[in-house]
Formats: sequence, structure tokens, C-alpha cells
Amino acid sequence: MNYRHSYHAGSFTDVIKHIILTTLITSISRKDTPFCYIDTHAGTGYYDLFSDYAKKTKEYEGGIEKVIQQENPPPLVKRYLDCVHKINNQLTESTFASLRYYPGSPMIARYLMGPHDRIITCELQLQEYQTLRATFAGDKQVAVHHADGFLGLKAFLPPRERRSLVLIDPPYENLDEFSRIAYSLPAALKRFSTGVYAIWYPIKEKNQVDRFYRTIEEKISYPVLAIELTIYPDLPQHLNGCGMIVVNPPWQFDQSINEILPWLWKTLTINAQGAYCAYLLK
Ligand SMILES: C[S@@+](CC[C@H](N)C(=O)[O-])C[C@H]1O[C@@H](n2cnc3c(N)ncnc32)[C@H](O)[C@@H]1O
Repeated sequence: MNYRHSYHAGSFTDVIKHIILTTLITSISRKDTPFCYIDTHAGTGYYDLFSDYAKKTKEYEGGIEKVIQQENPPPLVKRYLDCVHKINNQLTESTFASLRYYPGSPMIARYLMGPHDRIITCELQLQEYQTLRATFAGDKQVAVHHADGFLGLKAFLPPRERRSLVLIDPPYENLDEFSRIAYSLPAALKRFSTGVYAIWYPIKEKNQVDRFYRTIEEKISYPVLAIELTIYPDLPQHLNGCGMIVVNPPWQFDQSINEILPWLWKTLTINAQGAYCAYLLK
């Protein structure tokens, strides 16, 4: 496995994913009872944008750098940006640190969760796992596993809290990841039908995404919200944008997302290309 998320940290697709994640956790934590966040493909927890990897692609310039420059972002985007500021302040020990570090999904979840919530992470790549483990060393609320995230779904569901958000965020290095999701998600829902499941995917070929939706529609009998944001037109073999399907979306989550999407698209689009939408697949 060659994938390293450090090349893509803070990219426009990371920003979209992490703002949706922030919105989901905010919706779920409106209820006062504890919940369990499961991150099946966790990465390292946070990323150094000054590293050789990040500097090589500079993908953060089209993502977090654009968002951070906006005045008056919507409140949920502000909440996400607070996480970005927090990691920078924490690691540079200055109150107004500029942008150097970028928090990954488990770190964002950690900042947003309450004292009785719990995080379970899986990471398969040994080096990434070791970094992730060091990041959360001594944190009793976070469990870090060197494991295949799809197998983790079997091991960790249902959670004892009976309330859970599962993020499935594979690298999509090979196409079989769409089929692994189509196979694993119904099985996970069988084990734990009331969980909220968020699955991120790249939008490169529209046909591929449509095929994925059709499979989900066929195999899953629970409500599914599809969220898409593209910043380029439908260019073949090109990362035009990304999407997230949310199975069992929390109450009023669609409303919150629809308030953010126009702002986010306007901030991230290249020359007003691409589009955004959020709609119920079923
Ligand atoms: C897109 S990155 C994750 C980014 C992270 N979720 C975030 O938003 O900050 C995907 C991660 O999955 C890891 N990975 C790949 N295949 C995996 C598998 N089968 N199970 C668990 N982790 C896997 C990769 O090493 C990589 O760190």
C-alpha cells in the first residue's frame, strides 16, 4: 500500500469531508447520552503542512488555506476552523499560531466530543498506525487499532453506547474499495441498524458514482442522504470533487448541510465550475 494521506492533508476534499464530519458530530451530540465514533481508515491524526509530502503537492492551498481566509464563515464551519486553530495552538504553544498543522478526522472528532464519548480508530499501514498511536498516547477515550477497518466494523459493532457514528474513508487506490463498501455496509447495518454511517468517496467519473449509488439503493433499506460537491466540470479521470453518503442521517442534518454547501462551493470552486447538491437517495 503506497497511499500516504500527508500528500493530501488539508486539500479541498479533506475540507469538505471534515466540515461534513463536524456537522454530523454536532447533530449527534445534541442528545446528552454518550456515543461512540468509529473511524475505520483513520490516518495519522494530524498532518504537518510544512512536511516534504505536503509541500510537494501543496493541495492545502486549494483547501484549508482558502477557507481560513474567508470572513464570517457559517457557524459550523467556524466550529471546524476552531479545531484547526486548536491543533496549531497546541503544537506550537502560541495563542495565535498560523496554519502549519492540519487535524485529521480522529483529531477533529476528539476536539468535538464530550467527556463520556469514545473513539475507536483502525489504521492498516504500520507507520501511519504508529504515528496515530503516539498522537493519542495516554488518552483513555481513544482506542487505536492496527487493523483493517472493514474487519473493524465486524469487531466493534454494535457499540455498548448503542449510539454511534462510523466514518468510512478508504484511499480508493484500487476500484475494489467501492465493492468492499457495498459488501461491508449491509453487514454492518445488520449488526447495528440504528448507527449513523458516513462514507466518503471521490468524484472522478460520474458513471462510477452512479453505479455506486445504484448498488447502495439495492442493498440498503435505510434512509441515505447523498452529498456532493465538485469544483471542476465532469472531466474524465480527474478528481472533480467528492461526496459523502450518510446512512441514517440525524434529525435536521440535511438542513444544516444545505445551509453550508453554497458557501463552501463558492469558497472552493475554480472559476465557478462544478456544483453541489444534497438529496435523499432513499
Ligand atoms: C484517506 S486516508 C484517511 C484520512 C482520515 N480519515 C482523515 O480524514 O484524516 C485513508 C487511510 O486508510 C489507511 N488504510 C488503507 N486501507 C486500509 C484498511 N483496509 N483498513 C484501515 N486503514 C486502511 C491508509 O493507510 C490511510 O491512512
